[in-house]
Amino acid sequence: MPLREIITIPHETLNRKTRPVTKIDADLQRLIDDMVETMRDAPGVGLAAPQINVPLSLIVVEFGDEEDEDAPKKLYTLLNPEITRPSTEMVTGMEGCLSIPGFVADVERHQSVTVKALNRHGQPVKIKASGWLARIFQHEIDHVNGILMTDIATKIFRLEDMEDDDQPDAGEDL
Ligand code: NI
Repeated sequence: MPLREIITIPHETLNRKTRPVTKIDADLQRLIDDMVETMRDAPGVGLAAPQINVPLSLIVVEFGDEEDEDAPKKLYTLLNPEITRPSTEMVTGMEGCLSIPGFVADVERHQSVTVKALNRHGQPVKIKASGWLARIFQHEIDHVNGILMTDIATKIFRLEDMEDDDQPDAGEDL
């Protein structure tokens, strides 16, 4: 399973809406495995197919529990993901993006969302998420719609201008 190169801005694939996944075959399974490996290697907590220059509506997310550091991580592979039932409550938080190295951004997100998608076998799934996990899903689903955190940020920070204490933890990029 080879690692794929993560593309960074400016790259036109990152600003384009992707096409839906329609064929669930061995090539797709290989692509998914490569994405998981690439996300873990980065390291990151989420990766969308356009970030490896594949214009498909496909994301992988791996996250544990924000309250419990020792909780096992859960891997989500979602084809054609869509946000449904976004909360009216919004929260602002700081995000990093593997495709925008050297920057972080304050982004306003729904506090909770339901994500409707297909799993890697093509079966429909519905996931309720809140807090940081909801933020990761919203960030990755934006990627498949050609939207970057810097397009919707309320504030963008250059990492080298930040005090070490204010920088987000490594490995939390999306
Ligand atoms: Ni990102």
